[in-house]
Amino acid sequence: MPDRADARDTVQSLFATGLRNAHAMEAQAKQLLNRQIERFGDYPELKSRLQQHLEETDRQQERLDQILESMSEPASTLKDAAMSLFGNLAAAAHMPAGDEVLKDSFASAAFENYEIAAYKSLIDLAQFAGATEAVPLLRRSCEEEQAMADWLSSRLHNVTRQFVTQATGVAPAAV
Ligand SMILES: [Fe+2]
Repeated sequence: MPDRADARDTVQSLFATGLRNAHAMEAQAKQLLNRQIERFGDYPELKSRLQQHLEETDRQQERLDQILESMSEPASTLKDAAMSLFGNLAAAAHMPAGDEVLKDSFASAAFENYEIAAYKSLIDLAQFAGATEAVPLLRRSCEEEQAMADWLSSRLHNVTRQFVTQATGVAPAAV
């Protein structure tokens, strides 16, 4: 049986790993957002919301760094770099095929929900680790991800209609 001090160290270490993983996740989010912002000139409302979320993502990474620093843990840039490379490969394999705005909208919705799950789990880990000052910072990031997921979900209908109109030159009948 590990003693209490060992258990506390283990929880701290699990929390620090979770924070570094979330930092790398946000690095990948920035790649996804940047790629979409470049491509979605025809969808100004979508582009401007993605731009806004890119700025939020920068602040989310800063919050994670702030928490890691408060625990005297360095942020892992190595792991971010490895994930970034993977992100670039994924971007190359995902070249435009005409319906990229739809596929990217699905990917964004999936990614935002992944981020929500990661932050919910991190909030629990912060509480186990006794890092009470980290909880409001993580909650704020989680709320931003939730707002982005809700927005993407609410816009999918219009994005699909606009895509059909652009692909066919004909506005779809009202549904
Ligand atoms: Fe996000």
